[in-house]
Amino acid sequence: MTAAQKTVLIIDDTPANLGVLVDYLEQHDLCVVVAQDGEEGLMRAVFLRPDLILLDVMMPVMDGLATCRRLKDDPLTRDIPVIFMTALSETRSKMAGFQAGGVDYITKPFQVEEVLMRLTTHLNLHHTTRELQKTVAQLNLAQAELVRSETLAALGAMVAGIAHELNTPIGNGLLIASTLTDLSRGMTRDLQEGKGLTRSALEKYLREANEVGDILQRNLERAGSFINSFKQVAVDRTSAQRRKFVLADVVTETVLLLSPTLKNTPFKVQHAIDRSIELDSFPGPLGQIITNLINNAVLHGFEGRSHGSIHIQADIAESGQLELTVADDGIGIPEANLQRIFDPFFTTKMGAGGSGLGLYVCYNIATTVLNGQIQVSSAPGDGTRFLLTLPLKA
Ligand SMILES: Nc1ncnc2c1ncn2[C@@H]1O[C@H](COP(=O)(O)OP(=O)(O)O)[C@@H](O)[C@H]1O
Ligand SMILES: [Mg+2]
Repeated sequence: MTAAQKTVLIIDDTPANLGVLVDYLEQHDLCVVVAQDGEEGLMRAVFLRPDLILLDVMMPVMDGLATCRRLKDDPLTRDIPVIFMTALSETRSKMAGFQAGGVDYITKPFQVEEVLMRLTTHLNLHHTTRELQKTVAQLNLAQAELVRSETLAALGAMVAGIAHELNTPIGNGLLIASTLTDLSRGMTRDLQEGKGLTRSALEKYLREANEVGDILQRNLERAGSFINSFKQVAVDRTSAQRRKFVLADVVTETVLLLSPTLKNTPFKVQHAIDRSIELDSFPGPLGQIITNLINNAVLHGFEGRSHGSIHIQADIAESGQLELTVADDGIGIPEANLQRIFDPFFTTKMGAGGSGLGLYVCYNIATTVLNGQIQVSSAPGDGTRFLLTLPLKA
């Protein structure tokens, strides 16, 4: 038997009638094994794992239908295609055969050419199905991997933006520190050279020192606040842990961390969320959703525009659930696309930086991690509004 050679198991209680068929199939490069009753057939099927089974319907003790049901019950043999052989071209036993899990039937007396044709068809079908199943499994894996990398990419972009943003206050701080040193050195030199300390020189020094001190403090505070919010967001995003939090804080931090990206655009994000709204939920994943929605508004909604604003609002609905909306006044989404934007890989920026996973990630987080819902409403030219409905305690 060669590696590519297919094995066919024939289960028939009168194998004497099969001689011609077996010879013919073997001549056509099939490996044929014969079993004489249902029990023996089941054993051989488990042991051999044939590529296909030809099964006689009429057999004593355990008939073909019962044998087929047992084959379909066993995970080891479930996927092997079964073709029934029936002496009578009776419709009733054909139907019963399909119901028991058969894929086809042939009627006795055989035409060996026809049998071979049917066998080949089903062997090919089975092979193709298996390949497809493998491909689907691989695609599922690849999709999960892409979702992870989309999330990581968003975090990566944020880190890059923040590093860039920190550059300014820290650079300023350095400059100011050296200015202060220069001022002090000047004073020291004047004193050492015996020029004496005039009241006006001292006042000038103090004024300048105070001024640069203030600037230094503002810059360092700015850097510090960035690092603080980033620290929390990084922990939240990477650990996805539940905690109690004030919604306004998470929204503020998320928007703050996107500000390096938004700074060089004419677009604005506005949010005024009541500080009384508290959640016991997952701030990292929630921040991720808001990040994706803001990025989408800028990338898709405001594409080619010179102005645009995003509004983030929150309310507690009568049901006691949080209603968080992220709305932009951009180009909107055509009706035909609205049904599909949450689908994985749906993007109108194929080959232009779109992965089609941003909203899919939002949908998954909203419905699974946060235990809520996400809906969209939009009209072309009239902006896009995403509504997140979330329980206060996820
Ligand atoms: N705020 C928005 N305004 C207009 N179109 C949007 C907006 N958000 C999403 N879309 C549309 O939905 C599609 C899917 O978004 P998404 O899943 O984030 O994938 P991607 O951003 O990679 O294209 C986008 O390609 C775009 O056509
Ligand atoms: Mg996107």
